[in-house]
Amino acid sequence: MPKSIIIKKNGGPEVLELQEVNVGSPGPNEIKVTNHAIGLNYIDTYHRSGLYPLQMPSGIGLEAAGKIEEVGTNVNEFNKGDKIAYASMPIGAYSQQRIIPAKIAVKVPDEISYQLAATLMTKGLTTNYLLTKTYNLKAGEVILFHAAAGGVGQIFAQWANSIGAKVIGTVGSNGKIEIAKANGYEHVINYTENDFAEEVMKLTSDKGVEAVFDGVGKNTFKGSITCLKPRGMMVSFGNASGPLDPVNVPKDIQSKSLFLTRPTIGHYFTNRDELQKGADEIFEKVKFGKIKIKIFKEYKLADAKQAHKDLESRRLLGPAILIP
Ligand SMILES: NC(=O)c1ccc[n+]([C@@H]2O[C@H](COP(=O)([O-])OP(=O)(O)OC[C@H]3O[C@@H](n4cnc5c(N)ncnc54)[C@H](OP(=O)(O)O)[C@@H]3O)[C@@H](O)[C@H]2O)c1
Repeated sequence: MPKSIIIKKNGGPEVLELQEVNVGSPGPNEIKVTNHAIGLNYIDTYHRSGLYPLQMPSGIGLEAAGKIEEVGTNVNEFNKGDKIAYASMPIGAYSQQRIIPAKIAVKVPDEISYQLAATLMTKGLTTNYLLTKTYNLKAGEVILFHAAAGGVGQIFAQWANSIGAKVIGTVGSNGKIEIAKANGYEHVINYTENDFAEEVMKLTSDKGVEAVFDGVGKNTFKGSITCLKPRGMMVSFGNASGPLDPVNVPKDIQSKSLFLTRPTIGHYFTNRDELQKGADEIFEKVKFGKIKIKIFKEYKLADAKQAHKDLESRRLLGPAILIP
């Protein structure tokens, strides 16, 4: 029988259990998929810890790439044998085989491997919507991205550079500085040793940046606000250091007429057409070398516990995947 990672209660990486599961056949509008590669994302740790609540027992994981084994009735856009990828609810991507709604899947071109597809869906779609829909980035602008050597971070600066913008990045250790630079960050600040807001103000001759993309959350929010230009855009899109403290609108936002948004991917790709279009834009950039992605580490599905430990202890130096 195929195996899946199941969690019965929230907790540390130890709650991730590999179990045999009965997958069955797809119902109407569903497809049965054999996963070939599974994306490891920071959000998986929020689901596991309980920061983002799930009903127990639960599968875990949102992103994978694989091959269709069987299509249910009413599925017209896919056939048995198609190469697909997905990156959204329902939860349960940490599986060898599973059934998903056809509407969350996109077709993957031959040139993109299963491994790359499983890396690109969440991180690429996130970068795509952040830079084109949440904030309409323009050539010549200077922006700030936190955790620049991370999974989203490595794609983000390459995409921003392709628009003609300059990106300042932050990282948590000196070993990550060169990695961030190699991925297109013009300046990289180690925010565990330096006051990043002060450094950004120096780098921008006290003007500040047009937008901050902050997936770190609790530890960086105040500094991010500090180094924004008046009327700048604060994009708080994650909480790797913990959830945000309540925002004081008069003090934090009104003081510089800032914009504040807390986007999530699901609100930006609301149907299959939008999803396929967003994914195709990423696949094209990768196919034509505009974005270069190197998978930092592949874990066996059975080693998901170790993968979560490494992700949370900031030891990963780029995107990682699980191989079922
Ligand atoms: N809203 C959305 O639609 C959306 C979609 C995808 C991802 N996200 C968010 O984007 C962020 C990046 O996701 P990712 O999967 O690519 O992860 P990642 O960047 O590979 O890993 C998270 C990084 O956060 C940094 N970090 C800072 N403080 C930390 C702490 N106390 N504990 C652990 N890490 C800390 C670490 O980098 P340093 O060591 O360099 O500080 C770590 O590598 C996450 O917050 C995620 O939730 C949001």
